Amino acid sequence: MRFDILTIFPKIFQSYFDDSIIKRAQNKKLVTIKIHDLRDGAKDKHRATDDRPYGGGPGMVMKVEPIYNTLKKIGAVKSKKAASHRVILLTPQGNTLTQKTVKRLSKYKIITLICGRYEGFDERVRSLVDEQISIGDYVLTGGELPAMVVVDTLARFVPGVLGHDGSVKDESFSKSLQTLEYPQYTRPEIFRRKRVPPILLSGNHQLISEWRKKHQRTKHR
Ligand code: ADE
Repeated sequence: MRFDILTIFPKIFQSYFDDSIIKRAQNKKLVTIKIHDLRDGAKDKHRATDDRPYGGGPGMVMKVEPIYNTLKKIGAVKSKKAASHRVILLTPQGNTLTQKTVKRLSKYKIITLICGRYEGFDERVRSLVDEQISIGDYVLTGGELPAMVVVDTLARFVPGVLGHDGSVKDESFSKSLQTLEYPQYTRPEIFRRKRVPPILLSGNHQLISEWRKKHQRTKHR
């Protein structure tokens, strides 16, 4: 799966994507992440990506041309791109991201993510995208954290990305992952007088399995 991220703060992504599971996924060529600096799509001499709003008012508005130019450069213009390519705008006005959305998006080969900043963006940016996504009913300073959330949740669906056997694509496995939330323990056996349930130390797999089922905390989605 390939991700293209359009942002005016390319450095924000380094530490998260250059570590841990996402790093390994990139090394194994299962996931490709390309960060595009929107300033490179700005053609004026100041390389401005924002400007004052028409009609006045506080704050700045993200310009449409740097976004369009960058989309064009990476083959992500709506009318020209492949059906397996989805262009997404991160915005608090978008549809709230759920695991169901993630599953649907996991079918695409290329995901382009546009991160907004400042007070907002030129309304015409919306016409350049396939869908608008919010990661929750709160307002962040920009779309960079939401873009990382989208990449992270989608990467889990790429076969081979997660360490354990099996893929979240497998329906039953995905279900078991959602309900995997039984209490887990590791050493030590006793911590400040709190003991690990003796069944888990019994070695009796039948009993352990029953105990886990009984203590599962299912989250309905
Ligand atoms: N940009 C600012 N807040 C956001 C949110 N909650 N979701 C997506 N993009 C955003």
